[in-house]
Parts: sequence; C-alpha cells; structure tokens
Amino acid sequence: MYKKIYQSLLPFFSVLSLILLLFSSCNNQDPVQITFAAGPDETETIQYLVDKFNKENKGNIQVDWRQTARSTNENFEEIQTDFDATNPEIDVFASDVIWTGVLGAQASVEDLSKQFYNDYNPRDFVQAAMNSATYNFSIYGVPWFTDAAMIYYRKDLLTKYGFTKPPVTWEELQTMAKTIMEQENMPYGYVFQGDKYEGGVANACEFIWNAGGQITMDNLSVSADFGGEHFEPSIITIDSKASEDGFRMARQLIEEGISPEAVVNYRELEATNAFLLGKAVFMRGWPGVYGQILKNKNSVNAKQVGISSIPVLKAGTPSYSCLGGWNLMIANHTSAAKKEAAWEFIQYLTAAPQQRTRALRSGTLPTLKALYEEEQLLAEVPVMRFAKQEIQNARSRPVSAHYMEYSPEIAIIFNQMLGGEILPEYAVFALQEYLEDIRLDHTVANH
Ligand code: GLC
Repeated sequence: MYKKIYQSLLPFFSVLSLILLLFSSCNNQDPVQITFAAGPDETETIQYLVDKFNKENKGNIQVDWRQTARSTNENFEEIQTDFDATNPEIDVFASDVIWTGVLGAQASVEDLSKQFYNDYNPRDFVQAAMNSATYNFSIYGVPWFTDAAMIYYRKDLLTKYGFTKPPVTWEELQTMAKTIMEQENMPYGYVFQGDKYEGGVANACEFIWNAGGQITMDNLSVSADFGGEHFEPSIITIDSKASEDGFRMARQLIEEGISPEAVVNYRELEATNAFLLGKAVFMRGWPGVYGQILKNKNSVNAKQVGISSIPVLKAGTPSYSCLGGWNLMIANHTSAAKKEAAWEFIQYLTAAPQQRTRALRSGTLPTLKALYEEEQLLAEVPVMRFAKQEIQNARSRPVSAHYMEYSPEIAIIFNQMLGGEILPEYAVFALQEYLEDIRLDHTVANH
C-alpha cells in the first residue's frame, strides 16, 4: 500500500526536486561581471568606491575597473578600439564632455533618456554638466563630475611681496610673476597646458574667450528641459582681432620668460608636477589638482595655495573658463543583464554620498546642485566654494558630432603658435579656414 502511495507521489516529488534544483541553481548564479573604464586616480578614490560597491553587491554584480589612459585623446582611442573589437569588453565608462555628440551620433552608446527620467531629475544637476550629457534631444550619460578651469597661485608668496589679491589681468599676472621669480629664484611664473592634445584646446579656448573672442556660434546645447537644440556650428568666428590678441598674449608669456618654452609639451601632469614641487608661481588647472595638493608631501601644501579665475586681457571684462567634466555612459553592444548592472553602478557612483566622498578625497567637483549647499563640505573643499561661482562662467568647447575633427586642428595650430612657428594672426586665419572646411564637408554631407 505504501508502495502504491509512494508511486502515486513520484511525479510530485520529481517536479518538486526539479523546482528545488532550479531554485538552487538560480541562487548560485554567478554575479553579473561588468567592466568599467575610467582614467587614473592618484587619490585612489575610484578603487575605494568600486570595492565598496562590490562588497555591497556581492553575489549579484561585480565591477572590474579598467584604468584607461590619463589623456582624454588616448582614452577615447582606447574606448573606440574596444567598441570596434570582435569581443568588446567595456560595458560602462567615463566619457569626456566633448564626446557626447560624437558617441551619441555614432549610436555606440545607450540612449539613457528613459531610465534617466525614471531615476533622476535633470534639475538636480548643475545645468552645464547636464547639458554636456545631452545631445540631439537625448540623454546619453549621467553627469559624474564636472570641471571648470582655474588658476592656482602661491598665496604665501603673493602676500610676502605685498600682492594682496590674485591677478585679474594677464598684465598683473606678469608683474607678480616677474617679481616673485626674481626674488625667490623660481624658474617659472606661469605653467599651463600647450601640448598638441585636448588640454591644449581648452587652454586655446580660454586665451580666446578671455580676450573677448569666440570660436563658433550657433552650437547651442540642449537644456535640461529640452528647451534648445544642438546644431552643427553654423558660423565659425575664430578669425577676429580679439582671438588674435588672446593668442598673442599666450605667446608673449613664453617670450617674456614667464612661461617655460617647454609648455608646448606640457599636459596636466607636467604643469601639476612643476607647481607641486614649488617651481611655479601660477598654474592653470582643473579642480582635481586640489585633491593632489591636499595629499602633496613634496613641497607645496594647501595653506600656501589660493585659487582664482583665469586672468583676462582687459580689466572689467568677464573671465571664462573651459567647461570640462565626465559623464557615465553604457556601451550599446553590451548584454541586457550587463546594461542593468551598469545602470545600478552608475546610480551608485552618482548618488550624493559617493559624490561627497569623491569631493572630500579627490577635490573633484560634484554634479549634484544640493552638495554645493552643504556648508561643511564647502568648508572642507574650498575649491567647491570657488567653483560654485566659476561654473556659471564656464563655456563649452564647440558642440558637434564632428568635434574630434575640429579639435586636433585647434590643438596643432595653438601649439605651433606657442612655439613661435607661426604668428598669432596667421594662426586664427588658418583655423578659420580649417574649421570652415570641416563644417562645410558635413553640411554638404547632410543635404
Ligand atoms: C579634463 C576635463 C576634460 C578635458 C581634459 C583635457 O579631464 O575634464 O573635459 O577634455 O581635461 O585634458
């Protein structure tokens, strides 16, 4: 009789064991592995946050941080090469603000608009940072950190020689630099980035803007509430007296020995090293340098350093800094499960606690407006207090799906002009021609 009962229950047992088997195999499923690509971080905060995320998501998601090149240009190439590979590895990555138009137009990254509106409110973000993640009515990235360039100066030395305020004009900077270089036997007055790369473009733009010039017009950004539209720059305006004056100023800094001839090979690293070792009175840099100053054990410390706006050619005119920064994007090629995991990771990195940690440990500027209202944070990260104002005057580099064609031309010509190979008037004239040719090519191609 028992045998009979047993036999009749057999199908039930086998279904039950199948369910148990399925359940246990579900439970033992490997976590979703995702690869996150982002540039190096001297303050080791990225690794710290990735480890924390992995611990909190043990068994579900594991992120592997693949460190990309420091320079944005090489970083971009690495990502493009990965996307073109037979088996691409990068699932989620940090994207420079200048890549949004390019990657968005290529459709190589996920259009995040829908998820974004589900999980975020665009108005919670610094407007400029939000714009930089948007292209052609779509949101392609979540703003991770923002950058506005500034001048770092030796507050201790300025005070020592009776300069009570940082320089407002280039002329004032030259006077201060000359005095301090002579008295203190310092090799450099002002270090900046003049190499043939993207940082050179940012510096070139600033010399132009701070002399009253412009590079392009009609390349409006989409605002967070989609009130605008991106256009291919329709008017190239670089060939002007103001741009020429701005370029001439840059060359003059070298001719007068305020900036070393070597700035033609300088990127962020070289300029920062010179400043941190106490070799320069002034340096142009991004906010992240502040984190390095806080950690600096070499020579210059935070008490000796002040921050200020980039000088202008004529007193009384506004100072503009170049808008930089990085957004988090998801590669289009990656699987649905990985996309989901990547979105979790993006939400973690961009949430207020993690942005706060980055600001405190690395001096990177948050993209969430609310953090700029936290008095204690502003007190601990003075660069944030300064940037709160400065970001209002940050300008974007030309916004275009073809930015990667415009940008090398600007970098090369600026670099040659700095090196004295071509005159400032020729540099702006040549750039006008080159940029117009590129614009025309694409305008024609679009019709
Ligand atoms: C910083 C900025 C980025 C810029 C780059 C230039 O990383 O955030 O926008 O393109 O510097 O070197």
